[in-house]
Amino acid sequence: MTPFLAVLLAAGRGTRMNSSRPKVLHQVLGEPMLEGVLRAVEQAGARSIVTIVGHEAEAVRAAFSGRCQFVLQDPPRGTGDAVRAARTLLQEHRDVPTLVLNGDLPLLQASTIAGLLDTQIERRAAATLLTARLEDPGRYGRVLRDDAGRVRAIVEAKDAAPQELAQHEINAGAYVFDTQRLLPALDALQPKNAQGEYYLTDVVAGFVSRGLPVEALTAGDASEALGVNTLEELAAINGLLRRRRLQELMAAGVVVEDPESTWVGRAVQVAADAVLRPSTLLEGKTSVQSGAVLGPFVRIVDSQIGAGAQVLDHCLLREAQVGAGAVIGPFAQLRPGSEVGERAKVGNFVELKNTRLGEGSKAPHLSYLGDSEIGKGVNVGAGTITCNYDGVDKHPTRIEAGSFIGSNATLVAPISIGAGAYIAAGSTITEDVASDALARGRARQVGKP
Ligand code: UD1
Ligand code: CA
Repeated sequence: MTPFLAVLLAAGRGTRMNSSRPKVLHQVLGEPMLEGVLRAVEQAGARSIVTIVGHEAEAVRAAFSGRCQFVLQDPPRGTGDAVRAARTLLQEHRDVPTLVLNGDLPLLQASTIAGLLDTQIERRAAATLLTARLEDPGRYGRVLRDDAGRVRAIVEAKDAAPQELAQHEINAGAYVFDTQRLLPALDALQPKNAQGEYYLTDVVAGFVSRGLPVEALTAGDASEALGVNTLEELAAINGLLRRRRLQELMAAGVVVEDPESTWVGRAVQVAADAVLRPSTLLEGKTSVQSGAVLGPFVRIVDSQIGAGAQVLDHCLLREAQVGAGAVIGPFAQLRPGSEVGERAKVGNFVELKNTRLGEGSKAPHLSYLGDSEIGKGVNVGAGTITCNYDGVDKHPTRIEAGSFIGSNATLVAPISIGAGAYIAAGSTITEDVASDALARGRARQVGKP
């Protein structure tokens, strides 16, 4: 692997997005657009990475702090000006090539970066750029070649003559430069163009006019060159990635019943023989073990689902753990800190928050269980509520193994129910209950004719 300096461009206003959120923080399959670019650069083995920030700089820094260095470009005056903002780093790393990537290239692969670097080194080029042939080249910069097929220049669509616009080969916005040669070339840029900007792309014609070799690598998969400039393009790229992710999962043995309605994020792991029923959404750092059946209509975020577990219709899970063989739903909510033990059951209209429900325990209907530690083999009757909040503080509930909580019990926390205890239906329990004891806390029935 060739060591290199990576410069990621993320300072632009993203004007065509018509959005107040910085473009590189818009979501691509559940993660910020720049995340995929950073990952590709890391995988390709960058020696050092710098991201150029400007518009909404603080938000971009906060999202990626610790992953790279940041340099401020203020005001943004074009892609050439952006690279120039990193001049000190370019000088420091002038012994290695510089990779420059637009921050809005979420489909670019590490292997393509490696291909650019290899071409640059093998051909001893001053610059190597990534190009693609697009059916509709739209507003991309066009790559112009001479009669011998050598790259001559890149011309922006806004500056192009009609015969130049007719070219279908476009500049992807991914380049490798000889760093020593790039530095003076950046200083020579002039903002003489339709947008009054310092174009990085003008470096190419500058090199060619001085007889320096410029190479081009054409992307085998043209979609790698797709940039995001509008929310419609963002949605199209999300659709493409979503379908690819599902294809990968199906190839690896995951049953996807309805690829049209299923959504699986980039960081999600799903084992072979899991079943994703229609309208299943898996987000964040979720993992799903073999034989689990999810859906239809469930959303699972940052959660772990054990082998053979079922999450039935209309459930929402966030930061939850579901043990092997457990059954959740239909219509259940597991909030952060929920841990459902092996073969346990959480039924309809049951909400768990920061609660561990032991192996084989059941809360089948209409309950709120919060800040609770519930042992094995506990039956939580319909309508049971843990009153964990007194209006000021939250308090814990402890229910030990094998106890039976009758329907519609109200457990006022902090409270502890011993192992094998029995709570009569309809009770309001305010004092701890000993092991194997029966507790009843309700008014005696009065019959009046
Ligand atoms: C750029 C290329 C064009 C190419 C296209 C590929 C130039 C002049 N043109 O055009 O040839 O076909 O990408 O998608 O480079 N940025 C900054 N600072 C600035 C301006 C931009 O950091 O002052 C960043 C943006 O945040 C973005 C990237 O550079 O991530 C590209 O900028 P954008 O305005 O999208 O360039 P295009 O017009 O698409
Ligand atoms: Ca762009």
